[in-house]
Amino acid sequence: MDSVEYDNRTVTRGALQYTGKAKQVFTTDDPNILWVHYLDQATALNGKVKETINGKGELNSAISQLLFNYLTENGIKNHYLGSISKTDELITSLNILPIEVVTRNYASGHFVSKFDAVAMQQLSPIVQEFYYKSDALDDPFMNDSQIIALGYATSDELSKLRYESLMINQRLTELFQKANIQLIDFKLEFGRTKNGDILLADELSPDNMRLVDITTGNSLDKDVFRKHSGDVTVGYHEVLTRLQQVI
Ligand code: C5P
Repeated sequence: MDSVEYDNRTVTRGALQYTGKAKQVFTTDDPNILWVHYLDQATALNGKVKETINGKGELNSAISQLLFNYLTENGIKNHYLGSISKTDELITSLNILPIEVVTRNYASGHFVSKFDAVAMQQLSPIVQEFYYKSDALDDPFMNDSQIIALGYATSDELSKLRYESLMINQRLTELFQKANIQLIDFKLEFGRTKNGDILLADELSPDNMRLVDITTGNSLDKDVFRKHSGDVTVGYHEVLTRLQQVI
């Protein structure tokens, strides 16, 4: 499939622009639109561990699609334009900021290992962190002045990233709670439009968020892959089914 009908016209896939950890991004014949293909791939340790997992691309694509549509309906501006197959979608082409924004509601992952914090304690205030997007450097932590001094984002943009992330956290926390799932933490990426607006980008899936079943305490996200504790698609499938029931 190299062409699709979108918005009453044909969009044709072009060259491969970028291969990420679980996605490929292609140009299209429209300079404002990119074509994303979700891969059946899981990685850990910033890409150092890689495995093929059948069906994961479809699950991530379906979950991401549901969450982007939900956020759009709730007033959060984002890059998602529409789904074109079970594993492919169209997005707005953005100038992606080289910054990962992590939001933490409960202590887990590196927050626990770095600070020797008690796992799963509720965090007040909600913790927001910025990391420099670089696999080669293992995504180092960056503070505001470092980001501004190196020209990766302006002070106004950082305020926007913080505000948008808080709004997204509120919306997603409410939604997941309806699905009996606790949103522990998550990572977001943002990009600039040609006229300087900041939009939410990347994907929204259990690859980028920690999700825990409120009743059983079971992990429903990529931690299952990171810790080799079972079949990661079981939890992803559970997340998708529950979201379909509450959206
Ligand atoms: O590893 P850490 O505890 O810092 O991760 C916090 C959250 O950000 C987790 O939900 C994790 O899945 C996500 N994350 C990510 N991509 C990274 C780093 C963290 O999606 N490169």
